[in-house]
Amino acid sequence: MTQTIHIERTTTPKPKPAASELGFGKYFTDHMFILDYEEGKGWHNARIVPYQPISLDPAAKVFHYGQTIFEGLKAYRTDSGQIFLFRPDMNMKRLNRSNDRMSIPAVDEEMGLEALRQLVMVDQDWIPDAPETSLYVRPFVIATEPALGVSPSQQYKFIIILSPVGSYYAEGIKPVSIYVESEYARSVVGGVGHVKTAGNYAAGLKAQEGASALGYSQVLWLDGVHRKYVEEVGSMNVFFRIGDKVVTPALTGGLLPGITRDSVLHLLKHWGVEVEERLISIDELVQAQKDGSLKEMFGTGTAAVISPVGSLHWNGEKLMIGDGTTGELSARVYDTITGIQKGKIEDPFGWRV
Ligand code: COI
Repeated sequence: MTQTIHIERTTTPKPKPAASELGFGKYFTDHMFILDYEEGKGWHNARIVPYQPISLDPAAKVFHYGQTIFEGLKAYRTDSGQIFLFRPDMNMKRLNRSNDRMSIPAVDEEMGLEALRQLVMVDQDWIPDAPETSLYVRPFVIATEPALGVSPSQQYKFIIILSPVGSYYAEGIKPVSIYVESEYARSVVGGVGHVKTAGNYAAGLKAQEGASALGYSQVLWLDGVHRKYVEEVGSMNVFFRIGDKVVTPALTGGLLPGITRDSVLHLLKHWGVEVEERLISIDELVQAQKDGSLKEMFGTGTAAVISPVGSLHWNGEKLMIGDGTTGELSARVYDTITGIQKGKIEDPFGWRV
């Protein structure tokens, strides 16, 4: 059931940053959406209020047991001034799958979509229009009950904040170098790697720090059991062009079902490219690199869209991917998805709403 959203507008709007200053997730708009949950009462009190700090009891469960989930999507302004969200229904569905796994009560998806739309409309002047820019939308749920017993919280907040963003990587769409992580694991099947919960990202920081100390941008994660099958790259899904096929890890339960991943799969099939979703071992990749059939590798995610990989470090060896520059297919996928998002090209899938 969709409830009315009460809107309180700010009387002190903030100055907006220049497009060149944006980076990723550094600036926040003038308003935020909040919805409260209490056991017995359900989700209630939908409101858009001036962006502000929230006050929580130090015993709030989110601080102790990490009962929290989040989403990420983007709003765009086209050259003709229209405003679009990209596949927001997919984010609301995944939000509830994450909620379910973390024992958080489901949010009404229609309500969530309406909240997204209204908040983006209230802060529409914050949607940047320079190339490579957009308004990043960050919905999240936190457990707020002040109690230290290890059990699902009886109180929550569902909040949406907005951040005008430029390129995720300061260097833009440029191939990154990747360290294949063999010590730490990101997830195991049966765990929480397939949902968007904070701990997955916190647990990845140590490996990321180690990789960047060695001069690499990100890590390539191998599965937590066999330490053999490729799962994700940094916080993104991963694709390989091997011979005339494109291969991506199957959704085994250890990796996140990315919305950009799904969009790339649709696009490749639409172009007639043969795609396989299956297990891919690091040994198979090394073999394909050595025999020259590994032509391209790229990460996919909402933040960066497509992030080409130029080289992999594994077992003391540096393996170049293709000639180390952005591959032809990676560039075509990037141009097409961002073109659809920005309304520059036709949207055959109805992804812009
Ligand atoms: C994305 O690629 O959109 C991510 O998941 C990274 C995000 C947590 C900043």
